[in-house]
This record gives sequence, C-alpha cells and structure tokens, in this order.
Amino acid sequence: MNNALFDDFKYWGLPQLPPDLKSRWYDIINTYDNDVKFYESILPGGNYDLLEIGCGTGRLIPTWLRYLKGRIFALDKEKFMLERAVSKTRSHPEKVRLNFVEADILDKTPLPKVNFAIASTNFLSLFSNKIKRMKCLTNIRKLLSNNNSELVVDIDAFPEGFKTENFYTSSYEKDGHRLLVLRYDYYGKEPHTISSQYLYIPFQGFKPYAAFTEETETCFPPTSELEEEFQQAGFKIKTIYGNYNKKKYRKEDPVRIFILNPDF
Ligand SMILES: C[S@@+](CC[C@H](N)C(=O)[O-])C[C@H]1O[C@@H](n2cnc3c(N)ncnc32)[C@H](O)[C@@H]1O
Repeated sequence: MNNALFDDFKYWGLPQLPPDLKSRWYDIINTYDNDVKFYESILPGGNYDLLEIGCGTGRLIPTWLRYLKGRIFALDKEKFMLERAVSKTRSHPEKVRLNFVEADILDKTPLPKVNFAIASTNFLSLFSNKIKRMKCLTNIRKLLSNNNSELVVDIDAFPEGFKTENFYTSSYEKDGHRLLVLRYDYYGKEPHTISSQYLYIPFQGFKPYAAFTEETETCFPPTSELEEEFQQAGFKIKTIYGNYNKKKYRKEDPVRIFILNPDF
C-alpha cells in the first residue's frame, strides 16, 4: 500500500539531503535517553568486550566506554551513520578502545568474540520475518565468547508508536532550520509487521531545500515466537524485563527487554 502524498512527492523536484546532514538530522530527532540508566545498571564495569549491533550515530557509545573497561565494537551497515559516530567520539579520552565496524549483521563479519552484545532500540524488529531474525541471531550468537556472555535485545523501545495504522506529522527545529517529518504507518505483508513510509523535508525559513524518503518494515512478534527463535538460535533466556527499571516482564507489559545467554 502506498500513500498518495509520498507518490506525489517524487514530482516536487527537491534534491536529496546529503548523507552527513541526514545523520545530523537523525540526531536532532532521536534525543531519547530513557534506556541509558538501564544499561548502566546491567553492565558489570569490568574488563569486558562489548559489541553494539546497529550502533547508529553512537548515542550509547559514551555509556559503553564509561561502564566497561574492555574493547567496544560499534557495528552498523550504514557508512554515513558510522561517520557521525566517529566524529562525535574523536576527542573522547578512551577512544583507543573503540572499534567501528561497517558491516551488515546478516553477512559473515570477522570480529573477535565479545562478552556482551547489545541490540538496542528495536534493532531486532528491523528484521521483518523469521528467516532474517534467525540469521541475525545466529550470527550474533557466534560472536559471543562463553556461557556467561550476554545478549540484550530491546525490541519494543517505543511501544506507543508503530502498532496502528496511522498518519503522523512532526517537526524539529535547530539553528534556524526546521525539519518536517511525515510518517505513514500501515499493516505490513508479514504477520506482526508495520510498514512505515517517511518523508523528511528540511526548511530554511519557508524554503524547503532538500528531502529524503525512507521505508521501513518493523516486526514485533509475540513473546512465545521470540522465545522459540532465541532457543533455536542457541540462546537461553536469562530474564525478560517489562521496563527500563528492571521490572520482571508480565504478559500485559508493552515493553520486552530480553537478556539472553548463549547455550553452548
Ligand atoms: C534506530 S538505529 C539505532 C541506533 C542505536 N543503537 C541507538 O540505540 O541509538 C538502527 C541502526 O541499525 C542499523 N542497521 C539496520 N540494519 C542493520 C544490519 N542488518 N546490520 C547492521 N546495522 C544495521 C541502521 O543503519 C541504524 O543505524
């Protein structure tokens, strides 16, 4: 299904926003930090190595560097996202422990084994079917070093969004520039999926000067399905939290944060 607004947009003739500005606007939009205290509370602070899969522009990297003393591997498939993460950490006093990895987690990525892997902010929901989720999970599983290693999967980071058919608009302002965001959500092809079309138009004053569109399909499978997939991918479920204050998950909770151990 396509929204006519997004089709008509093709004829507006605005140039594509360059990737560096795209990742800058990504940071202006994504200012949430409600998960940071949660991660602070679960990281043991020792000499452990950590992998963040889909690190984006590195929102959580300072937290990893502050709470762990080992190496941090920050993986993302998008060069323009990683470039911003690199520039934001250039003067970090601990940056020698930081390794940026441009790779798709669905591909084979030669990486050293780690003690922690983090799939934050709905990362797993970006895989819209079981085949892709299983590939993602088995690839992560191979990168964990021992029985005590952990994978954290935060799959419902914004439970209020993404679950209904709807049209949203929002706008953001920074340094005299305004970004208008139009988002259209509709039920996707696969079960439990929501497709979203985004249209972003940055303005200076009243003049739009670029635009970009994005399409995503996010999938929020029921807990029983996820539990089965985690086990099939070689994980044991250590615990499931129902919010960032580490409340034990109950069926009615809109949030699920899974803590998994590899089952060797
Ligand atoms: C919503 S951002 C999350 C950023 C960060 N984890 C955070 O919590 O602030 C998701 C990131 O995952 C990346 N990504 C999506 N699919 C991926 C894949 N198959 N392999 C690696 N990275 C991927 C995207 O490029 C994007 O930067």
